[in-house]
Amino acid sequence: MNLKPDVDRLAETIEELGRFGALPGGGVTRQELTPEDAQAVAYLTGLMEGAGLTVRHDPAANLVGRRAGSLGDSAPAVLTGSHRDSGLQCGRYDGALGVLAAIEAVRLLDEKGVATAHPIEVIAFSGEEMSRFGVGTKGSRAIVGRLTPPAMRALVDANGVSYWEALAAAGCRPEELSSRLRTRDNTKCFVELHVEQGPVLEESGKTIGVVTALAGMTHLWTTISGAADHAGATPMHMRRDAFAAAAELALALEEEAVSQGKNAAVATVGDVRVQPGSTVIIPGHVEMSGDIRSTDETVKQRIVTRFRDACRSIGERRGVQVDCRTVIDEPALALSPQIRDAVEATCSQLGIPAMRMPSAANHDARHIAAVTEAGMIFVPSVNGISHAPDEYTTIEDACVGVEVLAHVLLHLAQEDT
Ligand code: HGY
Ligand code: MN
Ligand code: MN
Repeated sequence: MNLKPDVDRLAETIEELGRFGALPGGGVTRQELTPEDAQAVAYLTGLMEGAGLTVRHDPAANLVGRRAGSLGDSAPAVLTGSHRDSGLQCGRYDGALGVLAAIEAVRLLDEKGVATAHPIEVIAFSGEEMSRFGVGTKGSRAIVGRLTPPAMRALVDANGVSYWEALAAAGCRPEELSSRLRTRDNTKCFVELHVEQGPVLEESGKTIGVVTALAGMTHLWTTISGAADHAGATPMHMRRDAFAAAAELALALEEEAVSQGKNAAVATVGDVRVQPGSTVIIPGHVEMSGDIRSTDETVKQRIVTRFRDACRSIGERRGVQVDCRTVIDEPALALSPQIRDAVEATCSQLGIPAMRMPSAANHDARHIAAVTEAGMIFVPSVNGISHAPDEYTTIEDACVGVEVLAHVLLHLAQEDT
């Protein structure tokens, strides 16, 4: 069956969705539960309805489009989709392409009048990025019971608004999340198409990544308390400079990741808050993030342990108080071999160059995997760029991704698979 997408239609939807939260200098900031998110929801609702889907919001603000199956409403659904929000000053493909590809894939089935045994649900997750509330993959955590109401109230943005309040203000009913919405009974499997966000597919000359696992990801938040003092009148030997300590810690973290060996791990300090933030005042207080990732859990934990040792030794030597808190600690996770094999077989039948690979980035698939067989399909990122305005995937590669996804969904939604 020919399940090649309408190239111009897909290109137009990428362009259109990228308008919501578009920044003057390029790039997109579309955080969850914001006016630009609401614009995206309105646009995606129209697309989903145009694809023959019945659309609803779930209590965690995820947008869900459902296509009925011949087995009836009680049959477990084949889930597909990705997140609709973006990070800060990011690109138009991270998450968004997975949502649009899922809608286009189902639209193709609808246009061809193809019936499936199992219902198919397209989900546009809310809150996969962590920039607003400090924790990511919130929409997918919430619907598998991994984000409790107290935890949702404890997540607070820079304006003091909790995630719970933001959901309620957006018209959602997070109190209905008390029971797990997604279970093995109502969900048959999950397939997420996503841009690779790294250079591997492009360097390997492959069009499709068959994702085998997700790298483990640990987020730390480190607070350094020294002594604010006069930048001109305080001799160097009398200082307790919190930023100088933070800078040394950031370099120590980088060195720990590099010393694990080529491509064994990555570590990033991306968010640093310096107080009081004046040219003429020695920083008395600094807070900084830490993002450590590896497909090898032992390697990741080793980096975290050694960073905590550095916090103690650098703190003592510089006379500053260093407190390092773990915000999240997600282990490396193998994805479903069944979904992997279905994607691989589809690529082979279609003669599409594909390769097995782990995901260095984190995804909503992590949490849906808690209740069902979950897998991912990668398409290449040009120059491996992501989480930046220059993030780009060619429309040709995006179309191949849609075609593979459509065939995989058709296969998985049959009764005997
Ligand atoms: O950071 C991540 O891995 C995801 O893209 N938010
Ligand atoms: Mn992202
Ligand atoms: Mn993403």
